[in-house]
Amino acid sequence: MKKFFLIFLLLPNLVLANTENDSEETIIETKAHHPKQMKWEFDGVFGSVDRASAQRGYQVYKEICSACHSLRRVAYRNLTEIGFSEDEVKQIASEVLVSDGPNDDGEMFDRSGLPSDKFVGPYANEQAARSSNGGALPPDLSLIIKARHDGANYVYSLLTGFVDAPDNFPLASGKSYNPYFEGRQISMPAPITDDVQVDYRDGTYATKEQMVIDVTNFLQWAAEPEAEARKKMGVRTMIFLGILLIILIAAKRAVWKKVK
Ligand code: HEC
Repeated sequence: MKKFFLIFLLLPNLVLANTENDSEETIIETKAHHPKQMKWEFDGVFGSVDRASAQRGYQVYKEICSACHSLRRVAYRNLTEIGFSEDEVKQIASEVLVSDGPNDDGEMFDRSGLPSDKFVGPYANEQAARSSNGGALPPDLSLIIKARHDGANYVYSLLTGFVDAPDNFPLASGKSYNPYFEGRQISMPAPITDDVQVDYRDGTYATKEQMVIDVTNFLQWAAEPEAEARKKMGVRTMIFLGILLIILIAAKRAVWKKVK
């Protein structure tokens, strides 16, 4: 009987000791989480990018992301598609310096930007970009939403997903922990934080969540500017085919009416 009690008392300790060992040996998790599933206005057949949000997103891109990321496939004049006026676009373009040329003397020269210019990136070349970012290359963001699986949700999750690394995680110096990034360590420091980082022109209060949603809407538009036209065309085609079907059925009935 005594022995039985002894075992009874020891058992929980044995179990606990075991779990402790387990946690020490836990394999370090490096697989990326699935992106959080958000609801976007551009989802679905009738969806379109929220224009006001995309405009604010442009401001976030310009004031924060463009320090490291280019947006080479978008021209300044494309911004009219999300509601900027032509004068605003001229103003935005004129603030950048574009390297042009060669001129008649064979020399390159700088001029101020025109609406027809593509967005000017922060670095002269890939080497310059890498050397400023600890060897990592900040990718061009024009197509990032299309280039990643579940792109919009991924960008949203990545930007809101920076957290402290678990104690046992061997985070390399200069890297940040982010469970939505494959490998979970990324060479980008959290670009959007809880501080108010932009002063929105339309007076919207710039919370972290708001800034991330806005920049995601902007990048969604940048990656698929033709999406809306395509969706509209699809809907029109379906309506047209529907009407055609009704006409054809009516015609068939009329033609075959006499033949019973
Ligand atoms: C200080 C420079 C810096 C800033 C500012 C910055 N990034 Fe990055 N970003 C990087 C670097 C470097 C990488 C490459 C990371 C890597 O490969 O580990 C990166 C990678 C990314 C990726 C790609 C992740 C992937 O799956 O490959 C996205 C998306 C991204 N950044 C979005 C943004 C957005 C949006 C902003 C603005 C809100 C922003 N970044 C601001 C440096 C920056």
